[in-house]
Amino acid sequence: MPLRHLTPADLAAVVALDQAAFGGWWSASQYAEELGKSSTVFVGDASPTELISMAAAWLILDEAHIVLLAVHPAHRGRGVGRATLNYLLQALPPAIAHATLEVRSQNTIALHLYQSCGFRIVGRRPGYYRNPDDDALILWRRCLTGGNHIQADQGVQNPHPTAIGE
Ligand SMILES: CC(C)(COP(=O)(O)OP(=O)(O)OC[C@H]1O[C@@H](n2cnc3c(N)ncnc32)[C@H](O)[C@@H]1OP(=O)(O)O)[C@@H](O)C(=O)NCCC(=O)NCCS
Repeated sequence: MPLRHLTPADLAAVVALDQAAFGGWWSASQYAEELGKSSTVFVGDASPTELISMAAAWLILDEAHIVLLAVHPAHRGRGVGRATLNYLLQALPPAIAHATLEVRSQNTIALHLYQSCGFRIVGRRPGYYRNPDDDALILWRRCLTGGNHIQADQGVQNPHPTAIGE
């Protein structure tokens, strides 16, 4: 699977995947900014013809705030999401000690994926999402400081909760 870091040259493919996966969650200018920022790790599964997955994390102090994970609807259920999330976690700089994200409580597929990758639910924001209404679950995973390996089953408190998409 051709997983790699995405760059500003991938903008059109990223916007197309956003449309297919979310129906337009972030604007093209938002994606352009994220693809160009050194404080954002942005990865994806890019075949020569199509971007089929993408994931991004904001680097804040020693934390990675995962703000994006999407797989093209035509490629779901085949392990692409798991591979993309794992690649993102392995691509984090060694100084990153923890990873966090928010997810809709009803998004059982994403929730299952995150929990099976060692994330633990540490909080809930009632009524956080709209269209449709849903609670946000706050998940954390503690990593090994100074390395890219993640320690499973070690939830931490959430000092900087961050919004995430669907
Ligand atoms: C969530 C998402 C990224 C998962 O990607 P994916 O490639 O379909 O997931 P994978 O094939 O890697 O499967 C991951 C896990 O979810 C489970 N899963 C996948 N599709 C499923 C389905 N239709 N029903 C139930 N479980 C499912 C798999 O069983 C797998 O767990 P397992 O390995 O223990 O069996 C993808 O569905 C997606 O892009 N959804 C829309 C955007 C979104 O919700 N992003 C997350 C925002 S927080």
